[in-house]
Amino acid sequence: MDAFTYSNTTTIHFGPDQIQQLSNEIPTDAKVLLCYGGGSVKKNGVYDQVVAALKQHQWGEFAGIEPNPQYDTLMKAVEQVRAEQYDYILAVGGGSVIDGCKFIAIAAPFAGDPWTILSEQVQGSEAVPMGCVLTLPATGSETNIGSVVSRGSDKLYFFSPLVRPRFAVLDPTTTLSLSQCQVSNGVVDAYVHTLEQYLTFSTNAKVQDRFAEGLLHTLIEEGPKALSTPDDIDVRSNIMWAATQALNGLIGSGVPQDWSTHMIGHELTALFGVDHARSLSIVLPAVMRQRRAQKEAKLLQYGERIFGITEGSTDERIDATIEATVAFFKQMEMPVSLSDAEIAEDEIDNIIANLEAHGRTALGEHGDIAIDESREILLLAR
Ligand code: NZQ
Ligand code: ZN
Repeated sequence: MDAFTYSNTTTIHFGPDQIQQLSNEIPTDAKVLLCYGGGSVKKNGVYDQVVAALKQHQWGEFAGIEPNPQYDTLMKAVEQVRAEQYDYILAVGGGSVIDGCKFIAIAAPFAGDPWTILSEQVQGSEAVPMGCVLTLPATGSETNIGSVVSRGSDKLYFFSPLVRPRFAVLDPTTTLSLSQCQVSNGVVDAYVHTLEQYLTFSTNAKVQDRFAEGLLHTLIEEGPKALSTPDDIDVRSNIMWAATQALNGLIGSGVPQDWSTHMIGHELTALFGVDHARSLSIVLPAVMRQRRAQKEAKLLQYGERIFGITEGSTDERIDATIEATVAFFKQMEMPVSLSDAEIAEDEIDNIIANLEAHGRTALGEHGDIAIDESREILLLAR
């Protein structure tokens, strides 16, 4: 196991009726900017619960943070924070709203050009404190330090401990209004997060491996149930907790990581508008195929411990493991190839050009997925 420092300071309030905890979490003398997306929170009653919990506070609101939050939209909120002097940001929604609020929080007090936070990884020195009410289990953004922001054909990210939410309310009942498509997206995003911190090479990190395997088993067991019995709150609870754990820093501590699926996937979203998780279900099987030699030992372990695959030659076991992963994605009604998402083969050059433009030319746990390897991955994903 590699050396690591681990800290996750977000206070989590999990379970039904926890939205009321907002009133204790946010200082009563804070002026709060409540931010949300396209209006799902108004339809499912979450907005009303939040407003009720804020009755002691002075607050305003910013609506309209879109999926894959757009820089220009977020800059309007930055102007509002500056003009009206908000000193607390409350994100209510999915990963896009939370990511958007992280950017707003760090950009508002930033003296330079906020775009450089994303384009040049310029670190801000302060951020407006923020908390969140999560309504879509998927990204892990509710307790982590990452944020992904889009602008035209750029889908970029930044990390800063300054934007880790102070608290996160995880009430699984808020997820009952999700469409089947968003439920599937969330389960598969969390599944791929887990695999990208697991499917590398062994550093004999047994706790991380077993925790990751527990999350994979949970998502495989509960994901299909969330589609077939959508009102089951136990199922929703297990998915919500698994998604948070999949990207809160814990299973990735002290182990190599491979974010190539996410990096290639971001280009599919930026260029073709594919939902984030759907970009991952398209790319991951191809990464597994292209990297089968480098990931051999972990692929065998994954196949054996998750799918019970123990028979046959090494190649047969790896083939069966990749097919089992694809079968799970299909069961979750996700696309597993570029053609499933109606992306033609002749677009691969454009995807490659975007990867180069964004410097995504040394991906993977060894940094050896260069442009040629990414092209092979995309060809395998046709
Ligand atoms: O905008 P509203 O009206 O709220 O509707 C949203 C949106 O249309 C809807 N929704 C959310 N909660 C709902 C609901 N509809 C009904 N009932 C509810 N309870 O779902 C749609 C998608 O929401 P979005 O927030 O975009 O989805 P997700 O949580 O998957 O977030 C995706 C974004 O997060 C980034 C992705 O790249 C993408 O931009 N990621 C962030 C990460 C991080 N910060 O660590 C890591 C991830 O790998 C990912 O890259
Ligand atoms: Zn993701």
